[in-house]
Amino acid sequence: MSMDVRLDVDLGPLRLKNPIVTASGTFGYATEFEDFLDLERLGGVALKGLTLEPRAGNPPPRVAETPAGMLNAIGLENVGCRAFIDQKLPPLRALDTAVIANISGFSVEEYAEMAEMLSAAEGVDAIEINVSCPNIRTGGIAFGSRPEMISEITRAVRAAAPGMPLLVKMSPNVTDIVEMARAAVGGGADALSITNTFLAMAIDAETRRPVLGNLTGGLSGPAIKPLALRMVWQVHRAMPEVPICGMGGIMTGTDAIEFLLAGATAVAVGTASLITPSAAVDVLDGVTDHCRRHGVDNIRTLIGALET
Ligand SMILES: Cc1cc2nc3c(=O)[nH]c(=O)nc-3n(C[C@H](O)[C@H](O)[C@H](O)COP(=O)(O)O)c2cc1C
Repeated sequence: MSMDVRLDVDLGPLRLKNPIVTASGTFGYATEFEDFLDLERLGGVALKGLTLEPRAGNPPPRVAETPAGMLNAIGLENVGCRAFIDQKLPPLRALDTAVIANISGFSVEEYAEMAEMLSAAEGVDAIEINVSCPNIRTGGIAFGSRPEMISEITRAVRAAAPGMPLLVKMSPNVTDIVEMARAAVGGGADALSITNTFLAMAIDAETRRPVLGNLTGGLSGPAIKPLALRMVWQVHRAMPEVPICGMGGIMTGTDAIEFLLAGATAVAVGTASLITPSAAVDVLDGVTDHCRRHGVDNIRTLIGALET
Protein backbone atom coordinates (compact mmCIF):
# COMPACT_ATOMS: atom_id res chain seq x y z
CA MET A 1 0.00 0.00 0.00
CA SER A 2 1.38 3.47 -0.83
CA MET A 3 2.04 5.86 2.02
CA ASP A 4 -0.46 8.63 2.82
CA VAL A 5 1.04 12.08 2.37
CA ARG A 6 -0.51 15.08 4.07
CA LEU A 7 -0.56 17.82 1.41
CA ASP A 8 -2.61 20.72 2.78
CA VAL A 9 -0.80 24.03 3.30
CA ASP A 10 -1.69 27.52 4.55
CA LEU A 11 -0.90 30.42 2.27
CA GLY A 12 -1.49 32.85 5.12
CA PRO A 13 -5.20 32.72 5.87
CA LEU A 14 -5.88 30.77 2.65
CA ARG A 15 -5.98 27.02 3.30
CA LEU A 16 -5.13 24.94 0.21
CA LYS A 17 -5.83 21.21 0.06
CA ASN A 18 -2.50 20.80 -1.68
CA PRO A 19 0.26 23.24 -2.70
CA ILE A 20 -0.41 23.19 -6.47
CA VAL A 21 -2.22 26.12 -8.06
CA THR A 22 -2.37 27.40 -11.62
CA ALA A 23 -0.53 30.58 -12.62
CA SER A 24 -2.61 33.57 -13.68
CA GLY A 25 -2.99 34.08 -17.41
CA THR A 26 -2.07 30.52 -18.32
CA PHE A 27 -5.29 28.81 -17.25
CA GLY A 28 -8.04 31.09 -18.61
CA TYR A 29 -11.01 31.31 -16.25
CA ALA A 30 -10.33 27.64 -15.32
CA THR A 31 -13.50 26.07 -16.80
CA GLU A 32 -11.80 25.96 -20.24
CA PHE A 33 -9.56 23.22 -18.77
CA GLU A 34 -12.36 21.03 -17.38
CA ASP A 35 -12.05 18.50 -20.20
CA PHE A 36 -8.34 17.99 -19.54
CA LEU A 37 -8.15 17.63 -15.76
CA ASP A 38 -10.24 17.43 -12.62
CA LEU A 39 -10.16 21.01 -11.33
CA GLU A 40 -11.03 19.80 -7.83
CA ARG A 41 -7.70 18.00 -7.56
CA LEU A 42 -5.92 21.36 -7.55
CA GLY A 43 -5.12 23.37 -4.45
CA GLY A 44 -6.37 26.44 -6.27
CA VAL A 45 -6.79 28.21 -9.56
CA ALA A 46 -5.39 31.69 -10.19
CA LEU A 47 -7.43 33.09 -13.05
CA LYS A 48 -6.68 35.33 -16.02
CA GLY A 49 -5.65 38.82 -14.96
CA LEU A 50 -8.65 41.15 -14.61
CA THR A 51 -8.90 44.87 -15.22
CA LEU A 52 -11.74 47.20 -14.27
CA GLU A 53 -12.82 47.63 -17.89
CA PRO A 54 -12.72 44.89 -20.57
CA ARG A 55 -9.53 44.91 -22.67
CA ALA A 56 -8.83 43.66 -26.18
CA GLY A 57 -5.11 43.24 -25.49
CA ASN A 58 -2.01 43.95 -27.58
CA PRO A 59 -1.56 43.67 -31.36
CA PRO A 60 -0.33 40.24 -32.61
CA PRO A 61 1.98 38.41 -32.58
CA ARG A 62 1.48 38.11 -28.82
CA VAL A 63 3.62 35.06 -28.10
CA ALA A 64 6.96 33.76 -29.32
CA GLU A 65 8.90 30.61 -28.56
CA THR A 66 12.41 31.03 -27.17
CA PRO A 67 15.01 28.46 -26.08
CA ALA A 68 13.54 26.73 -22.99
CA GLY A 69 10.78 29.28 -22.68
CA MET A 70 8.38 31.69 -24.30
CA LEU A 71 7.66 35.37 -24.55
CA ASN A 72 4.20 36.81 -24.14
CA ALA A 73 2.74 40.25 -24.50
CA ILE A 74 -0.96 39.51 -24.24
CA GLY A 75 -1.71 42.98 -22.89
CA LEU A 76 -4.21 41.80 -20.26
CA GLU A 77 -6.97 40.79 -22.66
CA ASN A 78 -9.93 40.01 -20.39
CA VAL A 79 -13.68 40.42 -20.04
CA GLY A 80 -13.43 43.07 -17.30
CA CYS A 81 -14.20 42.72 -13.61
CA ARG A 82 -18.00 43.06 -13.81
CA ALA A 83 -18.44 40.50 -16.62
CA PHE A 84 -16.09 38.16 -14.76
CA ILE A 85 -18.31 38.30 -11.68
CA ASP A 86 -21.53 37.89 -13.68
CA GLN A 87 -20.41 35.28 -16.23
CA LYS A 88 -17.19 33.51 -15.26
CA LEU A 89 -17.43 33.23 -11.48
CA PRO A 90 -20.80 31.39 -11.10
CA PRO A 91 -19.59 27.97 -12.39
CA LEU A 92 -16.51 28.22 -10.12
CA ARG A 93 -18.55 28.67 -6.94
CA ALA A 94 -19.51 25.01 -6.74
CA LEU A 95 -15.93 23.80 -7.18
CA ASP A 96 -13.96 22.50 -4.21
CA THR A 97 -10.78 24.41 -5.05
CA ALA A 98 -9.55 27.85 -4.02
CA VAL A 99 -10.46 30.57 -6.52
CA ILE A 100 -7.80 33.28 -6.76
CA ALA A 101 -8.75 36.42 -8.70
CA ASN A 102 -5.74 38.22 -10.20
CA ILE A 103 -6.15 41.99 -10.61
CA SER A 104 -4.29 44.65 -12.58
CA GLY A 105 -4.96 48.37 -12.47
CA PHE A 106 -3.70 51.53 -14.06
CA SER A 107 -4.27 53.56 -10.89
CA VAL A 108 -4.48 52.78 -7.17
CA GLU A 109 -8.19 53.57 -7.28
CA GLU A 110 -8.80 50.94 -9.98
CA TYR A 111 -7.14 48.24 -7.88
CA ALA A 112 -9.23 49.24 -4.86
CA GLU A 113 -12.48 49.32 -6.82
CA MET A 114 -11.89 45.83 -8.22
CA ALA A 115 -10.97 44.50 -4.78
CA GLU A 116 -14.23 45.86 -3.37
CA MET A 117 -16.28 44.32 -6.22
CA LEU A 118 -14.56 40.94 -5.93
CA SER A 119 -14.82 40.68 -2.18
CA ALA A 120 -18.55 41.45 -2.39
CA ALA A 121 -19.00 38.71 -5.02
CA GLU A 122 -19.44 35.32 -3.40
CA GLY A 123 -16.93 32.71 -4.57
CA VAL A 124 -13.58 34.51 -4.62
CA ASP A 125 -11.28 32.96 -2.01
CA ALA A 126 -8.28 35.26 -2.47
CA ILE A 127 -7.11 38.27 -4.42
CA GLU A 128 -3.72 38.33 -6.13
CA ILE A 129 -2.48 41.82 -6.95
CA ASN A 130 -0.45 41.99 -10.16
CA VAL A 131 1.83 44.99 -9.63
CA SER A 132 3.56 44.61 -13.02
CA CYS A 133 1.37 47.33 -14.49
CA PRO A 134 2.10 50.89 -15.58
CA ASN A 135 0.88 53.68 -13.31
CA ILE A 136 -0.68 56.15 -15.72
CA ARG A 137 -0.27 59.00 -13.24
CA THR A 138 3.51 58.67 -13.07
CA GLY A 139 4.03 58.48 -16.82
CA GLY A 140 3.77 54.70 -16.97
CA ILE A 141 6.39 53.63 -14.42
CA ALA A 142 5.50 50.08 -13.39
CA PHE A 143 3.99 49.93 -9.89
CA GLY A 144 6.04 46.84 -9.15
CA SER A 145 9.39 48.57 -9.53
CA ARG A 146 8.85 51.12 -6.74
CA PRO A 147 8.48 49.98 -3.12
CA GLU A 148 6.31 52.95 -2.15
CA MET A 149 3.90 52.18 -4.99
CA ILE A 150 3.69 48.50 -4.02
CA SER A 151 2.86 49.50 -0.43
CA GLU A 152 0.27 52.02 -1.55
CA ILE A 153 -1.61 49.58 -3.79
CA THR A 154 -1.48 46.81 -1.21
CA ARG A 155 -2.76 49.13 1.51
CA ALA A 156 -5.60 50.35 -0.72
CA VAL A 157 -6.65 46.81 -1.67
CA ARG A 158 -6.38 45.69 1.96
CA ALA A 159 -8.70 48.53 3.02
CA ALA A 160 -11.17 47.81 0.21
CA ALA A 161 -11.32 44.06 0.94
CA PRO A 162 -10.63 43.76 4.69
CA GLY A 163 -11.28 40.05 5.25
CA MET A 164 -9.94 38.77 1.96
CA PRO A 165 -6.70 36.75 1.78
CA LEU A 166 -4.29 38.93 -0.18
CA LEU A 167 -1.34 37.90 -2.31
CA VAL A 168 0.99 40.32 -4.06
CA LYS A 169 2.47 39.02 -7.30
CA MET A 170 6.00 40.38 -7.43
CA SER A 171 7.70 41.67 -10.55
CA PRO A 172 11.19 40.23 -11.02
CA ASN A 173 12.25 43.28 -13.01
CA VAL A 174 13.71 45.03 -9.99
CA THR A 175 17.13 45.46 -8.43
CA ASP A 176 16.26 44.13 -4.98
CA ILE A 177 13.37 41.67 -4.72
CA VAL A 178 13.61 41.60 -0.91
CA GLU A 179 13.01 45.35 -0.68
CA MET A 180 9.89 45.01 -2.87
CA ALA A 181 8.69 42.02 -0.85
CA ARG A 182 9.05 44.00 2.39
CA ALA A 183 6.99 46.80 0.84
CA ALA A 184 4.18 44.38 -0.04
CA VAL A 185 4.15 42.86 3.44
CA GLY A 186 4.31 46.34 4.99
CA GLY A 187 1.20 47.26 2.96
CA GLY A 188 -0.71 44.31 4.36
CA ALA A 189 -0.03 41.36 2.03
CA ASP A 190 -0.74 37.95 3.56
CA ALA A 191 1.48 36.14 1.06
CA LEU A 192 3.68 36.78 -1.95
CA SER A 193 3.61 35.24 -5.43
CA ILE A 194 7.15 35.05 -6.78
CA THR A 195 7.57 35.58 -9.69
CA ASN A 196 5.96 37.21 -12.68
CA THR A 197 7.67 37.15 -16.09
CA PHE A 198 11.04 38.73 -16.93
CA LEU A 199 11.00 41.66 -19.35
CA ALA A 200 12.55 40.35 -22.57
CA MET A 201 12.67 40.66 -26.34
CA ALA A 202 12.95 38.50 -29.46
CA ILE A 203 14.24 39.79 -32.80
CA ASP A 204 13.84 38.31 -36.28
CA ALA A 205 17.18 38.83 -38.05
CA GLU A 206 15.66 38.20 -41.49
CA THR A 207 13.03 40.90 -41.25
CA ARG A 208 15.06 43.05 -38.84
CA ARG A 209 11.94 43.43 -36.76
CA PRO A 210 10.92 42.55 -33.20
CA VAL A 211 8.96 39.30 -33.14
CA LEU A 212 6.24 40.58 -30.80
CA GLY A 213 3.69 43.16 -31.88
CA ASN A 214 4.30 44.91 -28.55
CA LEU A 215 8.10 44.91 -29.23
CA THR A 216 8.90 43.55 -25.74
CA GLY A 217 7.24 40.85 -23.65
CA GLY A 218 7.59 38.66 -20.59
CA LEU A 219 9.83 35.59 -20.52
CA SER A 220 8.46 32.47 -18.78
CA GLY A 221 9.11 28.73 -18.73
CA PRO A 222 12.15 26.62 -17.73
CA ALA A 223 14.53 29.40 -18.84
CA ILE A 224 13.55 31.45 -15.77
CA LYS A 225 13.43 28.67 -13.16
CA PRO A 226 16.89 29.30 -11.65
CA LEU A 227 16.15 33.04 -11.43
CA ALA A 228 12.78 32.44 -9.78
CA LEU A 229 14.24 29.91 -7.34
CA ARG A 230 16.90 32.41 -6.33
CA MET A 231 14.27 35.09 -5.67
CA VAL A 232 12.05 32.77 -3.61
CA TRP A 233 15.07 31.70 -1.58
CA GLN A 234 16.22 35.31 -1.00
CA VAL A 235 12.79 36.46 0.17
CA HIS A 236 12.24 33.39 2.35
CA ARG A 237 15.63 33.86 3.97
CA ALA A 238 14.86 37.53 4.73
CA MET A 239 11.27 36.93 5.90
CA PRO A 240 10.80 33.26 6.79
CA GLU A 241 7.39 33.94 8.34
CA VAL A 242 5.86 35.23 5.07
CA PRO A 243 4.22 32.52 2.94
CA ILE A 244 5.31 32.43 -0.70
CA CYS A 245 3.63 30.96 -3.76
CA GLY A 246 6.63 30.14 -5.96
CA MET A 247 6.52 29.96 -9.73
CA GLY A 248 8.69 30.16 -12.82
CA GLY A 249 9.31 27.25 -15.16
CA ILE A 250 7.72 24.52 -13.07
CA MET A 251 7.19 21.57 -15.43
CA THR A 252 7.49 18.57 -13.10
CA GLY A 253 6.95 17.49 -9.53
CA THR A 254 10.68 17.74 -8.95
CA ASP A 255 10.67 21.39 -10.06
CA ALA A 256 7.88 22.06 -7.54
CA ILE A 257 9.81 20.34 -4.76
CA GLU A 258 12.81 22.59 -5.50
CA PHE A 259 10.61 25.67 -4.93
CA LEU A 260 9.29 24.25 -1.65
CA LEU A 261 12.84 23.59 -0.45
CA ALA A 262 13.77 27.18 -1.35
CA GLY A 263 10.99 28.37 0.95
CA ALA A 264 7.74 28.38 -1.04
CA THR A 265 4.61 27.19 0.76
CA ALA A 266 2.74 26.62 -2.51
CA VAL A 267 3.68 26.65 -6.19
CA ALA A 268 2.00 27.73 -9.40
CA VAL A 269 2.17 25.98 -12.77
CA GLY A 270 2.10 28.40 -15.71
CA THR A 271 3.68 27.90 -19.13
CA ALA A 272 3.57 24.11 -18.63
CA SER A 273 -0.25 24.22 -18.87
CA LEU A 274 0.04 25.80 -22.33
CA ILE A 275 2.08 22.78 -23.49
CA THR A 276 0.21 20.03 -21.60
CA PRO A 277 -3.20 21.15 -20.33
CA SER A 278 -3.13 18.58 -17.51
CA ALA A 279 0.33 19.75 -16.34
CA ALA A 280 -0.85 21.04 -12.94
CA VAL A 281 -2.21 17.62 -11.85
CA ASP A 282 0.85 15.91 -13.34
CA VAL A 283 2.99 18.17 -11.12
CA LEU A 284 0.79 17.26 -8.13
CA ASP A 285 1.26 13.54 -8.85
CA GLY A 286 5.00 14.12 -9.17
CA VAL A 287 5.12 15.94 -5.82
CA THR A 288 3.19 13.15 -4.10
CA ASP A 289 5.45 10.54 -5.67
CA HIS A 290 8.57 12.41 -4.50
CA CYS A 291 7.22 12.53 -0.94
CA ARG A 292 6.51 8.79 -0.95
CA ARG A 293 9.95 7.95 -2.31
CA HIS A 294 11.57 10.07 0.39
CA GLY A 295 9.32 8.99 3.27
CA VAL A 296 7.85 12.48 3.66
CA ASP A 297 4.41 12.12 5.28
CA ASN A 298 3.68 15.87 5.56
CA ILE A 299 4.52 18.27 2.73
CA ARG A 300 4.98 21.12 5.24
CA THR A 301 8.23 19.59 6.42
CA LEU A 302 9.77 20.37 3.02
CA ILE A 303 9.02 24.11 3.11
CA GLY A 304 12.33 25.94 3.43
CA ALA A 305 14.12 22.66 4.15
CA LEU A 306 17.04 23.50 1.86
CA GLU A 307 20.33 22.54 3.47
CA THR A 308 23.07 25.07 2.86
C1 LIG B 1 0.53 33.82 -21.64
C2 LIG B 1 0.76 34.30 -20.25
C3 LIG B 1 -0.12 35.21 -19.66
C4 LIG B 1 0.09 35.68 -18.36
N1 LIG B 1 -0.82 36.54 -17.79
C5 LIG B 1 -0.66 36.95 -16.49
C6 LIG B 1 -1.62 37.79 -15.86
O1 LIG B 1 -2.65 38.14 -16.46
N2 LIG B 1 -1.39 38.19 -14.59
C7 LIG B 1 -0.27 37.80 -13.88
O2 LIG B 1 -0.11 38.17 -12.72
N3 LIG B 1 0.65 36.98 -14.46
C8 LIG B 1 0.49 36.55 -15.74
N4 LIG B 1 1.42 35.71 -16.31
C9 LIG B 1 2.61 35.27 -15.54
C10 LIG B 1 2.40 33.85 -14.97
O3 LIG B 1 1.30 33.81 -14.09
C11 LIG B 1 3.68 33.36 -14.25
O4 LIG B 1 3.97 34.24 -13.18
C12 LIG B 1 4.90 33.31 -15.15
O5 LIG B 1 4.53 32.86 -16.44
C13 LIG B 1 6.01 32.40 -14.60
O6 LIG B 1 5.58 31.05 -14.46
P1 LIG B 1 5.81 29.94 -15.62
O7 LIG B 1 7.26 30.03 -16.01
O8 LIG B 1 5.43 28.63 -14.98
O9 LIG B 1 4.91 30.28 -16.75
C14 LIG B 1 1.23 35.24 -17.63
C15 LIG B 1 2.12 34.33 -18.23
C16 LIG B 1 1.91 33.86 -19.51
C17 LIG B 1 2.89 32.87 -20.11
